Amino acid sequence: MKGRTVVITGANTGIGLETAAALAAMGARVVLTARDPLKGSVAAEKIRRRYPDANVIPMELDLARLGDVRSFAADLLERFGALHVLVNNAGVMLGRRSTTVDGFETTFQVNHLAPFLLTNLLLDRLRASGPSRIINVASEAHRAARLDFDDLNSERGYRGMRVYVRTKLCNILFTRALASRLLGTGVTANALHPGTVRTALGRDGDTSAFFTLGIKITGPLLLSPARGARTTIHLASSPDVEGRTGEYWIRRRPRKPASKATDDEAARRLWDVSAQLVGR
Ligand SMILES: NC(=O)c1ccc[n+]([C@@H]2O[C@H](COP(=O)([O-])OP(=O)(O)OC[C@H]3O[C@@H](n4cnc5c(N)ncnc54)[C@H](OP(=O)(O)O)[C@@H]3O)[C@@H](O)[C@H]2O)c1
Repeated sequence: MKGRTVVITGANTGIGLETAAALAAMGARVVLTARDPLKGSVAAEKIRRRYPDANVIPMELDLARLGDVRSFAADLLERFGALHVLVNNAGVMLGRRSTTVDGFETTFQVNHLAPFLLTNLLLDRLRASGPSRIINVASEAHRAARLDFDDLNSERGYRGMRVYVRTKLCNILFTRALASRLLGTGVTANALHPGTVRTALGRDGDTSAFFTLGIKITGPLLLSPARGARTTIHLASSPDVEGRTGEYWIRRRPRKPASKATDDEAARRLWDVSAQLVGR
């Protein structure tokens, strides 16, 4: 990965942090984004302690603010030249409905709309830097999702898990539409499921007692964040996946997602609606 520049969102902890550490250890220049700048600096320092030669640059990026996404992208494009890998990793699962300063339901914005905007803002640079790769961290949980285009902001009733799984379906549909738009450009787009990983996901705030109990019981069986990062790292760095695009990966292998995630009409519609919502 020497000479490659990688951007990873939500990389101050969990799967993102381990992805950042591994790619930095391979010699990549890693832009580690975090919504809290202090957490970003601490994470970068952690990686440097592990790998003294690591080239890690922490940058602030709060996906719950579309203005932040725009200013981050502008700053990144100005500060750095070629961009070879974008990992849309950040994600939330929230027990209670909230809205962002932009007026969208928070999970929908952080997990889908903001990465959609960020990717589009960086697309020209990724194209110019090809071969380059876009990686979207989705989830097997997408299989339980139902995409309701009439209620993307979950105004008609909110259940944290239901909203979360829907955004993970959005991640795969977005990847599919993106890959088809990027065919022949030297930029690939893939989605993945990291496994069930012991991280902070879903634990901030008041997720259901059922979920919390489930985590307690299954905790010892969950993957470590380092293991959970393996498929992302593979997609970001392996020569074996050069040119592979529009696929969904689990345990470093392409897998078939649910048929609702291969619905090209839904993927196109989601693209159009998202573009309209973020003003692209
Ligand atoms: N853990 C699993 O079992 C599992 C399974 C399937 C898929 N995934 C996916 O894996 C990805 C990484 O999750 P994880 O398990 O590593 O969870 P995590 O430890 O909670 O990490 C999530 C990251 O996203 C960041 N984030 C949250 N809200 C943000 C915002 N508004 N703006 C920018 N960043 C924000 C978090 O920042 P803070 O530290 O500041 O909160 C953190 O850095 C997610 O997309 C998740 O859906 C995880």
